[in-house]
Amino acid sequence: MKTITFSNGDQIPILGLGTWKSKPGEVYQAVLWAIEAGYRHIDCAAIYNNEKEVGKALHKAFEDGLVKREEMFITSKLWNNAHRREDVKPALKQTLKDLQLDYLDLYLIHWPISFKAGVGFAEIRKDFYTYSDVPLSQTWAAMEEVKKLGYARNIGVSNFNITKLGEILKNCTEKPEMNQVEMHPYLPQEKLVNFCKSNGIHLTAYSPLGSGDRSSEAKKPDEPILLEDKKIRVLAEKHHCSAAQILIAYSIHRDIVVIPKSVNQERIKQNLEATKIQLDEGDFEKLNSISTRHRFIDGSFFTKGQSPYKMEDLWELE
Ligand code: A2P
Repeated sequence: MKTITFSNGDQIPILGLGTWKSKPGEVYQAVLWAIEAGYRHIDCAAIYNNEKEVGKALHKAFEDGLVKREEMFITSKLWNNAHRREDVKPALKQTLKDLQLDYLDLYLIHWPISFKAGVGFAEIRKDFYTYSDVPLSQTWAAMEEVKKLGYARNIGVSNFNITKLGEILKNCTEKPEMNQVEMHPYLPQEKLVNFCKSNGIHLTAYSPLGSGDRSSEAKKPDEPILLEDKKIRVLAEKHHCSAAQILIAYSIHRDIVVIPKSVNQERIKQNLEATKIQLDEGDFEKLNSISTRHRFIDGSFFTKGQSPYKMEDLWELE
């Protein structure tokens, strides 16, 4: 499988298993199916509330000799309630304990949003920290520290726009090597991709299939269904594959790491098979000609009510 190489020589497989929304009761089996099928990259996060089950599956896979630790690439993410310098290492150590690992291959700041310690999801003003309380540069310095200590081999961010990346790049000793953001043909993020590529920052596409399994409250009533897009379906027919596989191949064609979530054995296998699909330039142009624009995960839940954060803290507003 194609890989993307970090500055220390580590390679991240271009396809990984996403675990956001995978229920604790499903993710154990999903991770084992994925490893059996040939996945060597699992994308996790503390806030997904399933790292213990992912950890049990990894432990089982290592114990049974299915795969060795060093053959797996494991990513996790720092939740918003541990951005203070002193909170980063304990949060990472908890994730390592849950995942039953000694180190992560990649650790990301999950969002450029900060909550007070112990707050799962801030809603009232006193549960938030602002950028003057806890500057992102402070969190980044702590990320550099955990890398130096060997708890994370590589460090990066998630949901960072060009402005926020620029702030980190200006002040850092080690630059972020990955930015994980939502990306698919309805949100190609060309400006951000160009900025990241010109600064040596790799990209991972989350929600590459449009995350149709979000709760109905998390969905906009009129939101488009990516997997049902006509142009994507036409290409799927041409390649004798599924719409999901075209969406995975689209990201790989752009050299962007992609992490489709599935807890279904057939779909887990099918998504891995998509790494063999070769889109030609005509196919890619057709995908680029899709004019629908939609951000499924717009982060507005962090900006409601008494939150000190605004949408422009998250995305470049067009
Ligand atoms: P399931 O877990 O039952 O397979 P995203 O990665 O964009 O968050 O999308 C995840 C959603 O897409 C889940 O509902 C998942 O369901 C579904 N999914 C994953 N793989 C495929 C596939 N190959 N075809 C159709 N739906 C898929």
